[in-house]
Amino acid sequence: MFSSSAMERRRRSPCAAVVMAAVAMLAVMPAFPGVAADLSAGYYSSSCPKLESIVRYEVSRKINETVVTIPAVLRLFFHDCLVTGCDASALISSPNDDAEKDAPDNMSLAGDGFDTVNRVKTAVEKACPGVVSCADILALAARDVVSLASGPWWSVELGRLDGLVSKASDVDGKLPGPDMRVTKLAAVFDKHGLSMRDMVALSGAHTVGFAHCTRFTDRLYNYSAGEQTDPSMNKDYAAQLMEACPRDVGKTIAVNMDPVSPIVFDNVYYSNLVNGLGLFTSDQVLYTDGASRRTVEEFAVNQTAFFDAFVSSMVRLGRLGVKAGKDGEVRRDCTAFNH
Ligand code: HEM
Ligand SMILES: *[C@@H]1O[C@H](CO)[C@@H](O)[C@H](O)[C@H]1NC(C)=O
Ligand SMILES: *[C@@H]1O[C@H](CO)[C@@H](O)[C@H](O)[C@H]1NC(C)=O
Ligand SMILES: *[C@@H]1O[C@H](CO)[C@@H](O)[C@H](O)[C@H]1NC(C)=O
Ligand SMILES: *[C@@H]1O[C@H](CO)[C@@H](O)[C@H](O)[C@H]1NC(C)=O
Repeated sequence: MFSSSAMERRRRSPCAAVVMAAVAMLAVMPAFPGVAADLSAGYYSSSCPKLESIVRYEVSRKINETVVTIPAVLRLFFHDCLVTGCDASALISSPNDDAEKDAPDNMSLAGDGFDTVNRVKTAVEKACPGVVSCADILALAARDVVSLASGPWWSVELGRLDGLVSKASDVDGKLPGPDMRVTKLAAVFDKHGLSMRDMVALSGAHTVGFAHCTRFTDRLYNYSAGEQTDPSMNKDYAAQLMEACPRDVGKTIAVNMDPVSPIVFDNVYYSNLVNGLGLFTSDQVLYTDGASRRTVEEFAVNQTAFFDAFVSSMVRLGRLGVKAGKDGEVRRDCTAFNH
């Protein structure tokens, strides 16, 4: 049976909460050392009062050009936060191709995510030059793509500085993989003080966006010695995916991750899992594994419960490894360090 510290935490009595919170803090510290910043929703209220409307306008304009903007920005925020914290390190372009975004594990982050942040930054710099960090712009843009896709809106904590380091080698082992099962997935999140419930709620981001065939073709053609196709996958869905992704197909073909409502941010991801329509192993196991099944069932029938959980998990995700003081700067250009 599954027995991560996240699960143990929930089984214990409420009076252990303080001790457990301290344990969570300790779990975060070694991952991202440095000074913790004070984040607040009103951080730029006098230095850049129009910030939020500028971000929303530019994000909306970009989505109207291409709907791919929605998943691209959301995934970029997740990857940035998991690797050295929410510090825009994922946005750095290196002439030597050795920045975070160049790591094999960047798992084909879509260019429209980077483009969105750069365009918003240009607009924000015109209104308030040198004031707003790229890390905060990405956090706001991630909220805006979710809410513009009919998902929840929430107040975003601000005050992150942009990081001074971005290395491809930092990515290795930090991101979850599509072949992982629940114990491993939970461990990736637990390292940052994020619980099983956070992990299940954040996985709901796969209600939008695309995945390349190579990420899941083992489930179709090469599941195990005895079975070609993963038996937890709905048969009709498997047949559709085989049609879209023939064996040995190139890396270029991608399919919707939510086959039912691919561009709407809703709880259909979870009812899909109940129906065997999870695309990755890492999606489907959230339902097949008893350790996370009840949360999937809860979110599948109650979108409000999903939205509430997603919002609080995104806020917690946004606090990871925030840079302050001499550990950061406000970049002039999101793709390059100031010096
Ligand atoms: C729980 C473990 C997770 C795993 C194993 C995982 C893995 C993946 C993989 C393999 C892809 C497909 C990439 C491609 O083929 O191009 C993908 C796409 C995506 N992921 Fe995740 N992911 C996880 C959690 C998350 C979280 C927490 C978020 C955001 C909060 C997220 C947001 C997205 C989005 C929006 C896409 C679509 C990207 C696009 O269309 O450009 N994922 N994920
Ligand atoms: C994007 O399209 C929507 C719907 O047509 C529209 O309401 C909105 O104003 C557009 N956004 C921008 C920034 O043009
Ligand atoms: C991701 O990394 C690969 C190399 O592994 C690189 O070719 C690709 O351009 C990178 N993606 C982005 C968006 O930088
Ligand atoms: C099939 O799966 C096995 C075990 O995971 C792996 O070693 C092998 O490379 C896979 N074969 C193909 C054709 O992908
Ligand atoms: C759905 O979830 C919300 C938020 O957790 C809760 O207040 C509400 O009672 C739930 N609705 C049902 C029908 O269970």
